[in-house]
Amino acid sequence: MTPKVIVVVGAQWGDEGKGKVVNKIAEEADLVIRDGGGGNAGHTIFVKDRKVVQHLLPCGIVYKDKINMVGPRVVCDLEVLEKELALAKEFGSEVWLDERAPIVLPIHKAIDAGRETSGGASKIGTTGRGIGPCYEDWVARRGLRLGDLRSRQKMTGALEARGFYAERRAVASHHDMTSVPIEAVLDWAEMYAKSVVPHLADTLELVHDALDRESTVAFELAQGVMLDVQHGTWPFVTSSSCGAGAVHNTFGIKHIHRAIGVSKAYVTRVGSGPFPTEIPGLDGDWLRDRGDEFGATTGRPRRCGWLDLPALKYACRVGLITELVITKLDVLTGRPSIPVCKTYVPRNGTLRATSTLTRELLESVEPSYVEMEGWNQDLRHCRQFADLPHQARHFLSVIERTVGLPITGVSVGPGRDDMIWVD
Ligand code: IMP
Repeated sequence: MTPKVIVVVGAQWGDEGKGKVVNKIAEEADLVIRDGGGGNAGHTIFVKDRKVVQHLLPCGIVYKDKINMVGPRVVCDLEVLEKELALAKEFGSEVWLDERAPIVLPIHKAIDAGRETSGGASKIGTTGRGIGPCYEDWVARRGLRLGDLRSRQKMTGALEARGFYAERRAVASHHDMTSVPIEAVLDWAEMYAKSVVPHLADTLELVHDALDRESTVAFELAQGVMLDVQHGTWPFVTSSSCGAGAVHNTFGIKHIHRAIGVSKAYVTRVGSGPFPTEIPGLDGDWLRDRGDEFGATTGRPRRCGWLDLPALKYACRVGLITELVITKLDVLTGRPSIPVCKTYVPRNGTLRATSTLTRELLESVEPSYVEMEGWNQDLRHCRQFADLPHQARHFLSVIERTVGLPITGVSVGPGRDDMIWVD
C-alpha cells in the first residue's frame, strides 16, 4: 500500500453534488477532511432513506470506522458545529477539529447581512452566514479561533487584541446593525466550548501521521472553482480558495493522486454574478423543478443554465482537476434536444483559450451552443456506461473530448447508489 491523497472539488459555481462523491470516496478512505468554506456550504446525502444535510463536518461522519476532520481553513459556525458533532456521535464516528480554525461570530453575520441590505445592485447575494467578514478578520490576523474556546481568558484576549471587537462593532453600526458587547460574546462562545473542546487537535499532524502510515486521505472542498476568491468571477465569489491547490497549501501536501472535479450535466448558480448560459423563462423553470434546484443552506431558488464547457475547462485547469464526475444526468431525460455551450463568442476583441474567466470577460461573451440529441429512457437503474442510451454516452464523450479529462463517475438519480463508477 502507498499513501493516497484524493481531493473532491466543485468544478462549477458550487452545489455540484460533491457530497455524494465524497461519500463514495470515503468508503475507501481512512481519513475524510473538510477543507475550506464554512456554514455557507451544504452537502446532502441519503443514508438508506434518511436525508442527511451537513454544512461543516465532512460526509465521512456517516461511517463508523472513518476519522473525520475539519481543517484550519474552515470558518466554523459554533451552533452548526454542535449540531453536527451530535450527528457524528449518533453515527459513532470520530471527529477532530483544527485548533486554528476561525470562529464565525454573530457580529460577522450582522455585518454580512448589513452589507447585503445596503449593497443595492452591487450586492453579492451571499448566503448570509458571515463567511466574508470572518475570513477578513482571519487575514487581518485577529478574531477567535476554536483553540481559544479552551478558556475565557484566551477568548477575552483574542476579542480585545488591538481593539478588534470594538472596531467590528463600529462597522456593524455603520450598517445599522446591532451587536452585543464583549461579555455577551464570551457567554455565547462558552455555551459551545463543552462540546467543541474535546475534539480539538492539530489536524495537519494527524494527516501527515496518517500519510506516513500509508493511509488513504480524502479531502472535501467547498463551493466551486468559479466561486474561488482568486480564480472565480470576483467580486461575485466566496471568500476562500475552492480548487485542489488549496490542499497543497493548507496541509503542506506535495502530491495529490486524484483531484476529482464534480460538475452537473447542466449549470446552476446562486447569488449575483455573470452566468453566460443562464436560461431565462420556462426552460429554466423546467430545469429547476426537475433538478430540485433550491439551496441546501438558504432554500433560495438556484439560477439554472445549460452546460458551459469553456467554464468547465477553465475550472479544471485552474482548479488542478485530473478527472470528472458528472452529476444529475437523469435530470435531462425527456428533452428532445439538449443545448451545450462549446465556445464563447466575444462581443468585442478576441478571446484566447487560456484567458482567465473574469467577471468582466464572462459579461462580454455570447455562448455558442451545439444541440445534442436527447433521450427518453429512465437512467436510474444504469450502473455502467454501456447501460446508458447512446445519446447520453455521446453527451458524456463530448464533455470528455472538450475538457480533455476522463469521466470516472456519473450520477443517474438522487439515491446514494444511483451512480455509474468507472474503476
Ligand atoms: P458567501 O460565501 O456566503 O459569502 O457567498 C458568496 C457567494 O458564494 C454567493 O454568490 C453565494 O451564493 C455563493 N455560495 C457560497 N456558498 C455556496 C455554496 O455552497 N453553493 C453555492 N453557492 C455558494
